[in-house]
Amino acid sequence: MTKLKVLVLGCTGQVGWELRHRLACLGAVTGVDYPEVDFSKPDSIRETVRAAAPAVIVNAAAYTAVDKAESEPELAMAINGIAPGVLAEEARRMGSILVHYSTDYVFDGSKQGPYVETDAPNPLNVYGRTKLAGDEAILAVGGEALILRTSWVYGARGSNFLLTMLRLAREKAELRIVDDQIGSPTSSECIAQATADILAQVTRPGGGGLEGRSGIYNLTCAGATTWFGFAKEFLRERAGSATPKLIPITTSEFPRPAKRPANSRLSCRRVEEIFGVRMPDWKDALSLVLEALNEGR
Ligand SMILES: NC(=O)c1ccc[n+]([C@@H]2O[C@H](COP(=O)([O-])OP(=O)(O)OC[C@H]3O[C@@H](n4cnc5c(N)ncnc54)[C@H](OP(=O)(O)O)[C@@H]3O)[C@@H](O)[C@H]2O)c1
Repeated sequence: MTKLKVLVLGCTGQVGWELRHRLACLGAVTGVDYPEVDFSKPDSIRETVRAAAPAVIVNAAAYTAVDKAESEPELAMAINGIAPGVLAEEARRMGSILVHYSTDYVFDGSKQGPYVETDAPNPLNVYGRTKLAGDEAILAVGGEALILRTSWVYGARGSNFLLTMLRLAREKAELRIVDDQIGSPTSSECIAQATADILAQVTRPGGGGLEGRSGIYNLTCAGATTWFGFAKEFLRERAGSATPKLIPITTSEFPRPAKRPANSRLSCRRVEEIFGVRMPDWKDALSLVLEALNEGR
């Protein structure tokens, strides 16, 4: 039997790295990243996809430097806003399934409860606007595509809040951390595992592909906290080594080039109802990542 061909774009990023491993159960996984493929050049994307001729394209490549995007809006738009539409066109042309990741930053954070997929987006920053443009470009093409909206991504490798704070905790006597933005820290391994579970369902013989299930799905770990609460949890779990004093601060005490939503919570009911995916609580997912870090994996 021929193996299902899966193309992972952005394969050295946080989510992409995990995807390469977790999707191996589906078939033959090819991973590609910058500069082998350059998302700011549509021809480069087309060539890469056509050369791989995959049945499934999973796109974890993105311009993720939220603050830097404020001063590089064109590049961020090319990578986050235009490239996903090119991928969707290629996927549709080949009859492939596209999986793409989006963000809580498409919302302005003014809602009281968790956001659902049908809530109106209103991004506060350039990154959010470019990611929203990418979601819209994929939907406009109208092929078989899943847009998985996640939040506060971290893991044992890459550039993220957890690793930055662990480093700062070794260097500083006190840490001032924002305590008025609420969201769900979501590990890259949970995102990749959920993606693998969904794809296993839809690509198995008789699985029927996405069949009317294309569209946007929120996908974050369960529960919510603030950046301060998140840091407190992993620094507490690493008790034993000297822990710095943690000071909760407000967003206005930590000005950044890009505005962030105060409420980043996303309801994951839809992905559970349609695909049976149940994400773990963020504290449980965190424990596993800390274990991996302790073991040097
Ligand atoms: N990080 C978060 O907190 C967060 C939150 C919500 C949603 N998301 C979304 O989740 C997805 C995965 O995020 P992540 O945290 O895994 O991102 P990441 O670690 O920053 O990885 C992104 C990957 O994209 C690559 N890339 C950058 N510019 C490129 C270009 N011009 N052409 C091709 N590839 C390029 C990067 O390569 P280089 O390393 O060489 O630049 C990197 O390997 C993204 O869609 C992101 O928007 C992330």
